[in-house]
Amino acid sequence: MAFSSDFIYQLQLGNPIDDVMKSYVNLIRRGRNYVCSCPFHSEKTPSCTVYPDTQSFYCFGCGSGGDVITFIRKIENLEYFEAIKLLAERAGLDIPTDKQGEKTARIKARVLEINRETAVFFYKALTSDPSKIGLSYFASRGILPQTIKKYGLGYADNSWDKLKNHLLSLKFKEDELVTAGVCLSRNGNTFDLFRNRVMFPIMDLRGNIIGFGGRILDDGMPKYINTADTPAFKKSRNLFSLNFAKNSSSNRLILAEGYMDVIAINQAGFENVVATLGTALTSEQARLISQYAKEVIISYDSDNAGQKATSKAINLLSEAGVAARIISFEGAKDPDEYIKKFGATRFKLLLDNSDGAINFKLEKCKDGLDLSTEIGKIECLKRIVDVLAQIYNELERNVYISKVSKEYEVSSEILKSQIDSKIAKKSKRDKRNDWKNIVSKPRYKDEINPEVNQHPRENKAEEGIIAYLFQNPDMIKKVTNFITPEHFVTSFNKKVFSVLCEKLNSSTNFTLSLLSDEFSDSEMGRITGIEAKHRDIILTEQVVDDYIKVLHDHKNNTLSDNINSNEDLLELVERLKNIK
Ligand code: GTP
Ligand code: MN
Repeated sequence: MAFSSDFIYQLQLGNPIDDVMKSYVNLIRRGRNYVCSCPFHSEKTPSCTVYPDTQSFYCFGCGSGGDVITFIRKIENLEYFEAIKLLAERAGLDIPTDKQGEKTARIKARVLEINRETAVFFYKALTSDPSKIGLSYFASRGILPQTIKKYGLGYADNSWDKLKNHLLSLKFKEDELVTAGVCLSRNGNTFDLFRNRVMFPIMDLRGNIIGFGGRILDDGMPKYINTADTPAFKKSRNLFSLNFAKNSSSNRLILAEGYMDVIAINQAGFENVVATLGTALTSEQARLISQYAKEVIISYDSDNAGQKATSKAINLLSEAGVAARIISFEGAKDPDEYIKKFGATRFKLLLDNSDGAINFKLEKCKDGLDLSTEIGKIECLKRIVDVLAQIYNELERNVYISKVSKEYEVSSEILKSQIDSKIAKKSKRDKRNDWKNIVSKPRYKDEINPEVNQHPRENKAEEGIIAYLFQNPDMIKKVTNFITPEHFVTSFNKKVFSVLCEKLNSSTNFTLSLLSDEFSDSEMGRITGIEAKHRDIILTEQVVDDYIKVLHDHKNNTLSDNINSNEDLLELVERLKNIK
């Protein structure tokens, strides 16, 4: 249950942390702060500091820390809500009924209404427009009238304010149109976002229209625009056409790159097709997919970008426990074009003969090499040995070995012995690593953010950025111009940063307490620790720029990493899981 930031602020004003803690511990003033013996672990010299200016406490001895709500939760052993109740009573405040929740729900309902009216408006514009611009565009792309109806496709003409005026006449307010993302506001002017485009409404599983994609009708840029995230729409958590795909009896899903591909595939008779919404596949979407399918057939463009995205998708899907197969389109750039050129039957054939992830990786081994030279061929075979050494099952391995042996005209015995020695080396290395892990566990065990170990440098950068925002909450806009939660490497810091962004953007009075409904009390300790560690360090913009660069570099490195090392990692994770 989330309380409004106003209420949390009032609660905090009524319960200064030093005042509250005084009833439990003996506070000794030290400069602007207080110190005390930590009530959460036994100690002789006081190592717990109380900071009135940030209304927080932190123990450098045991890592306990947080805001006043966290303190009460810990010391009285209460749930979040009970702690709020205690503090509200102490300060003589009424606990609000879930006003914030009601307000959010009301805004979301308005946004959905606006979206529905907008979809109707675009649909009518498409079908009743005398010049038939939109209709002839769809016709030129082979989209049938029943498909237009099924997807509720639409048309936005070149006007800056037709939609706006229509929605205003339905008694929606300008700021609501902006919140819904169908209009933009610049320098006090509100105008339609989608112009000169054919429109694709995006539906959630209940059939609500949560957003739109729009494709330009000429060669203008950008080719597609999509609704920004709104109270009713999170790009990273939805998939286009999942509302239809979920009804398919198949436990396979086809994953395509864009709206047009999905629609073409669906129209060709495959209901089980989805696409991401103008971004690369996210881990949230991979998890969503895992609820509907055991296997995904990745059906991305045959260009470079599409192949890169395929590699990334394979990894995300396998993390979510979904098997991936891959289709590649010979003689066409994407599934839409393929179906148009060769028909639905040939497409079905492609689906049925789609390759497993291993074949995709084997093909990737050839990238950038000239196989007509010996050097190129040898390098390629080395990469192939790496890929095949990752297959556990011997039988499966042998199938690929004989395939490769034929294709490259090398003896399968030699391949086998190379692969075996690779596997032997690897298992030795893994054992050594496991052993290292076991030996170092007690010293390095970090239950809150276990990834710190693997990514000390990134962790330092992430903590620096988080601390910077604590010191300079009004820099949030600027910081998020350069970095988003997606860039964060360790999961705990990623969550902290994303909650921080959300809270900083939605509340005028930021306090640490706004985080305490999202995090456990030991997590709050860590967050306060990050803040406390940086308290006497002045984080300049320059320093933060460097931290941001560290995270960008990391992202770029993992993107351009060859698949093998990602696979290595995944495999190691699997292995560790099995050991547990
Ligand atoms: P057509 O040219 O209409 O066939 O499009 P396509 O489906 O072949 O699109 P493309 O492969 O260029 O892009 C695939 C998906 O990426 C689209 O459906 C969009 O969601 C997204 N996309 C493409 N271009 C842009 C763009 O300029 N901006 C944004 N935000 N997304 C884009
Ligand atoms: Mn296309």
